[in-house]
Amino acid sequence: MPQKLNWPLVEGNLAAMLRYLTAGESHGQALVVILEGLPAGLEITVEEIQAEMARRRLGYGRGPRQRFEADELTLIGGVRHGRTIGSPVAIEIKNTEWFRSDRWHKEMSPAPGATEQALTQVRPGHADLAGMQKYGFTDARDVLERASARETAARVAAGAIAKKLLSQIGIDVWSHVIQMGSVRVPSEVGRPHRHDLDRIDESPVRCADPETADAMVTEIKAAAKDGDSLGGVVEVLASGVPVGLGSHVHWDRKLDASLAQAIMSIQAVKGVEIGDGFEVAGRRGSAAHDPIHWDEESQRYRRRSDLAGGTEGGMSTGELLVVRAAMKPLATLNIPTLETVDTATKETTVSFKERTDVTAVPAMGVVAETMVALVLVAEAQRKFGGDSVSEFVRNARGFADSIGAVPGHGS
Ligand SMILES: Cc1cc2nc3c(=O)[nH]c(=O)nc-3n(C[C@H](O)[C@H](O)[C@H](O)COP(=O)(O)O)c2cc1C
Repeated sequence: MPQKLNWPLVEGNLAAMLRYLTAGESHGQALVVILEGLPAGLEITVEEIQAEMARRRLGYGRGPRQRFEADELTLIGGVRHGRTIGSPVAIEIKNTEWFRSDRWHKEMSPAPGATEQALTQVRPGHADLAGMQKYGFTDARDVLERASARETAARVAAGAIAKKLLSQIGIDVWSHVIQMGSVRVPSEVGRPHRHDLDRIDESPVRCADPETADAMVTEIKAAAKDGDSLGGVVEVLASGVPVGLGSHVHWDRKLDASLAQAIMSIQAVKGVEIGDGFEVAGRRGSAAHDPIHWDEESQRYRRRSDLAGGTEGGMSTGELLVVRAAMKPLATLNIPTLETVDTATKETTVSFKERTDVTAVPAMGVVAETMVALVLVAEAQRKFGGDSVSEFVRNARGFADSIGAVPGHGS
């Protein structure tokens, strides 16, 4: 029989693995996310999901939309009396703008009709033109409404549940901004811990180093003054990741590959690094790997450094997971200057202006945490299974207890 290739998050060949789908447009009625494959007995509340979604709206340099995007959400299925019951969890996130504006009722109406104002001055750096060509549209709104990063609100709702499940087996996921435009956290500044997360979220740029954060804000102010935009880099960290998530046996089983795909799926992310990826490429081999030793105290094999970012051979090593995401500067500018063509007339123009932020790097960090959490949950479920949370936790503990030594090799 030919081997069936499975993308683990999409095609659930293993019933116990989480998969999820989002639907909805940026200015439509609502976003919807359905998660299938969660174990029963996970305690979750609307407030917990809302708190995580509020973190996505954080960050200096974001536009007014974040203030009225209230993320009003409803748990439609899969949760009863505050606990999952093993059935698909469905979440609806109402779009408050749609409800308060006649404009979006008309523009986004599912009823037959046409727009009065087609968008044709396509924006470079967006999905507009390629999407119009691919799907045969004459109005860029048919593309941009779904390409917009508003969709990440639905992912973050799913991520809140994924993080809750991960916490049951001691996995924590957090992130911080390490670069904004040309301002980068100096290399001598250490990595923040999980307990620093509240402090990071309080920083206007979600940067753990206060001095660098100030310089980042100055950089944003300067770009804003010029009507320009900024990109940057975030680092996502996960602690408590057990050994052996992912596998070396096949390309689509590798944890680092799944993480890269998930992170790269975030709008405007153009680069992914696992550990010190690009920096390590310039070193000699003798200085580019994490030496292994036996730690008597924890009775575990440990790495002395974290250059590989917690994966080797497509498997988690049990060390801190480190994933970085590079985001391009936002393509819509508050003072549009990028040359383009009006697709209705073929005349040279500048792109139309859809409301835009100066930078969304801090928010992207929260989305990147979400994507890492969703990959880790799927892989943890693949390894530990379990129809209920207690079964999942018991299996994870059993494995953890067994791996002081490499299985099958003594002690
Ligand atoms: C949280 C978040 C917010 C974003 N906000 C904006 C924005 O305000 N303006 C903009 O031009 N792009 C924004 N983007 C990026 C675009 O959605 C993205 O660049 C575009 O859809 C094209 O996709 P690509 O850059 O992946 O090719 C945002 C991305 C994220 C993750």
